[in-house]
Amino acid sequence: MLTSLFVALAISAVFAGVPNSDENKRMMDHLSDAEHFKNEHHNKQFDHDAFLGEDQAKTFDQLPPEESKRRLGMIVDKIDSDGDGFVSLVELKDWIRYTQQRYIEEDVHRHWVQHNPDGAETIPWETYRKNVYGFMDDMSQADLQAPNSEGFTYSNLLKRDRRRWTYADGDLDDALNRTEFAGFLHPEDHPGMRDIVVLETLEDIDKDKDGKVSLEEYIGDMYKPEEGELEEEPDWVKQEKEQFTGYRDTNKDGFMDAGEVKDWIAPPEFDHAEAEARHLVFEADSDADEKLTKTEILDKYDLFVGSQATDFGEALARHDEF
Ligand SMILES: *[C@@H]1O[C@H](CO)[C@@H](O)[C@H](O)[C@H]1NC(C)=O
Repeated sequence: MLTSLFVALAISAVFAGVPNSDENKRMMDHLSDAEHFKNEHHNKQFDHDAFLGEDQAKTFDQLPPEESKRRLGMIVDKIDSDGDGFVSLVELKDWIRYTQQRYIEEDVHRHWVQHNPDGAETIPWETYRKNVYGFMDDMSQADLQAPNSEGFTYSNLLKRDRRRWTYADGDLDDALNRTEFAGFLHPEDHPGMRDIVVLETLEDIDKDKDGKVSLEEYIGDMYKPEEGELEEEPDWVKQEKEQFTGYRDTNKDGFMDAGEVKDWIAPPEFDHAEAEARHLVFEADSDADEKLTKTEILDKYDLFVGSQATDFGEALARHDEF
């Protein structure tokens, strides 16, 4: 079982009390940004969690299976842009990039309009803080500082948002224009925000707060055996341990520091869309010809509806495409 799922559940429980559900969702996205960068096991599981966690009315899994397969088939036709009957790696990569960009653009637009209804050039920090965390003004210092309380969780999220805001604020006027705001909301998509993504990821995994990631913390972030069960460690966990020791911890001091975390989640040339496309082709290409037919894709239906190729199934539920 994944920690990220527990975190997501815990946070969603906490945020049930916050008025603005759109902001709740962003908080959860916030937590998930870094997950996008992580290794394949994590990623795959994350894709499914994210998909299943979608609570919008038009979620894909509310469609009857025949209908969702029909829609997936239509998406395959679109991905196959040269119409040769095969989905190539490049076509799949282009499609994933397209759906990612579309999702990000719509998300930024929605939040931008919400925090800036009058269409000003910038959103000042204070406006954003009031909109999102204004309810904290009514809480006492004791409420905000009690360890493991809701108030404490909010305080930490506020601090994290404040810091990320400052990173995104290129001209340091404490207000974000649309470009800067996009970097704030989706740092994973902005090379200039890499360092803050690395820092937030490190902090999430670094449970003992010593500023570095131990092997236990690294594995603990991806894998938790069921309570009281003596199940044998899965092979992928063994492989992850070898990865940590053999590759991730490059200076062999037993820990991943910020630089090593950066090489892991955000290597300079890393292309997320390409990695996801390779992963999907690898998993679905049953005749190993390095391209996919519609049948191969429909045979791996579960994989694709949980994938970013369908924007977590969202593309299958969009009205404008069917
Ligand atoms: C926002 O400000 C940055 C500098 O921080 C600038 O490079 C960018 O062009 C501005 N974008 C818009 C939409 O004004």
